[in-house]
Amino acid sequence: MAKALKVGLAGLGTVGGGVLALLAQNAALVTKRAARPVVVSAVSARDRHRNRGVDLSALAWEDNAVDLAGRADVDVVVELIGGSDGPALALAKATISAGKAFVSANKAMLAHHGLELASRAEAAQVALKFEAAVAGGIPVIKGMREGLAANELTAVYGILNGTCNYILSTMERNGSTFAQVLGEAQALGYAEADPSFDVDGIDAAHKLAILTALGFGTKPNLEGVGIEGIRQIDSADIDYARSLGYRIKLVGAARRVGEAVTQRVAPALVPHAHPLASVMDSLNAVVAEGNFVGRMLFQGRGAGAGPTASAVVADLIDVARGEWGPAFGTPASDLVSVPAIPLAPTIGRFYMRLTVADRPGVLAEVTATLRDVNVSIESVIQRGQDPLTGGVYLVLTTHAVVENALREAAAHFSRLESVLAPPVVLQIMDL
Ligand SMILES: NC(=O)c1ccc[n+]([C@@H]2O[C@H](COP(=O)([O-])OP(=O)(O)OC[C@H]3O[C@@H](n4cnc5c(N)ncnc54)[C@H](OP(=O)(O)O)[C@@H]3O)[C@@H](O)[C@H]2O)c1
Repeated sequence: MAKALKVGLAGLGTVGGGVLALLAQNAALVTKRAARPVVVSAVSARDRHRNRGVDLSALAWEDNAVDLAGRADVDVVVELIGGSDGPALALAKATISAGKAFVSANKAMLAHHGLELASRAEAAQVALKFEAAVAGGIPVIKGMREGLAANELTAVYGILNGTCNYILSTMERNGSTFAQVLGEAQALGYAEADPSFDVDGIDAAHKLAILTALGFGTKPNLEGVGIEGIRQIDSADIDYARSLGYRIKLVGAARRVGEAVTQRVAPALVPHAHPLASVMDSLNAVVAEGNFVGRMLFQGRGAGAGPTASAVVADLIDVARGEWGPAFGTPASDLVSVPAIPLAPTIGRFYMRLTVADRPGVLAEVTATLRDVNVSIESVIQRGQDPLTGGVYLVLTTHAVVENALREAAAHFSRLESVLAPPVVLQIMDL
């Protein structure tokens, strides 16, 4: 049997604990698949004295995680601390500089510093692996980097944040408001005390920036992602969407438009028959469309100790086998820039909900404005009342229109005295 791969593990929280548990429970199987044992030799976390429910007495401890990189009994460092900069980034750089492989679940760091880390890893000829950083247990990084490597992709998109999907699914199921469901999710520990990374779309944007780089051979560019979260979604929108044949999902999507690639995270109306519509609760899913393979769907658990550890240890098995190569599938020096402007003038179908004063002439005023900017209306529903303003809801869906024209009209509506709340504008996804 070849000698063991010795792991330095930084971070012993949800995912770090899961990695220790998996390596212990599946040790024999991991050894067979890796053709050598994979053993943790040294660990680091903030609090040395915290009871973590596992016996760490046989493992070396480092107070400063960065010191794991230089240890003689560490061949590969696994970073499960989190945060785009700080100790996680310092540890990544120190590990690669020491000529060792680096495994991480840290999407924030990879979205911000992925290009620099990939360049350093390739120069040092060491592995940089991050299967757990996107969609947790779903092997979408490997699937795209290896399984779909022969394809020109036209689109990669998906449900990349389990907390948002859980909130939207529960709002639909229980008819509750966003604030109610968020409060319940926080009480159950499904949502963070500060939920903004999740509900404002930032976490999904981190993951999308990574997927875009993999799918299109572009430099990871977080600034190039147009980001909208789900706070503005009302249970009325979910009801209207359902009656129109759609479900509202937070979708992160990268699409090729001519020579450019657009990246956007925003809630969208997904047709009931689309595979993403049936992805409920905290599940994640990613769709990749390739010119030879067609449409692929990856679906599963995007978070939690078990699924995330499954992805981290898969990376460790790759490292144990001696596999390394371009972290984003394309050599870092060949990755091309994506334009910083996220939205080329998009053409698509849209849903718009207006809260308007209940008096004659408002509908006519709205439709006339839309006609003037060349927005052609597919359907209009006028029913339901806003409990806050007492106004009535006017819900429109459009034919394919230039998005900017619709956004301009929406901005105009929000200035009208007869429009009582900011318009809600959502893209309608094609089947
Ligand atoms: N949770 C998931 O389901 C999930 C899914 C996919 C990806 N991820 C990613 O995985 C990473 C870890 O997430 P998590 O949920 O496991 O976080 P977590 O439960 O908060 O654990 C973080 C760990 O990092 C340790 N830590 C914090 N600062 C440190 C420092 N300066 N030096 C050394 N250790 C430090 C903490 O130590 P103490 O325990 O002593 O406080 C804790 O053990 C993040 O990048 C996250 O985005 C998580």
